[in-house]
This record gives sequence, structure tokens and C-alpha cells, in this order.
Amino acid sequence: MANKVEQIHANLFSKAIETLKTGQKLASVDYFVCGVCGNTVEDAAPEQCPVCGAPKTKFFKIA
Ligand SMILES: [Fe+2]
Repeated sequence: MANKVEQIHANLFSKAIETLKTGQKLASVDYFVCGVCGNTVEDAAPEQCPVCGAPKTKFFKIA
């Protein structure tokens, strides 16, 4: 699970870096983190974590 989550984190960082390289500002996005495995998703928590299967209630919003 940790490897899957770190790949997801790396993709989010790469996306941010590519945006900054263009000179654009990063969009305001809400991030939700699974309290069980650390999976991080944009905009809204899923009904079930696609990595560990935890329910939506295990996700918390970060600013
Ligand atoms: Fe999870």
C-alpha cells in the first residue's frame, strides 16, 4: 500500500511542478487524505479508498 500511495503522491507533485514550470499559479484544490493508508485525493473523498478500502469517513481534509 505504501508504494501505491507514494506513487500517487509523486504524481500530484509532478502535476504541480509542471504547472509551475508554465508560469501558472497552482489552482486552489482541496485535498483529502486517507487516515488509514495516506492515500491523497483531490477535490472530494471517495466513498471507499481505492488503495486500502477504508470508508469515506476515514478521510480528512487538509488545507
Ligand atoms: Fe486508504
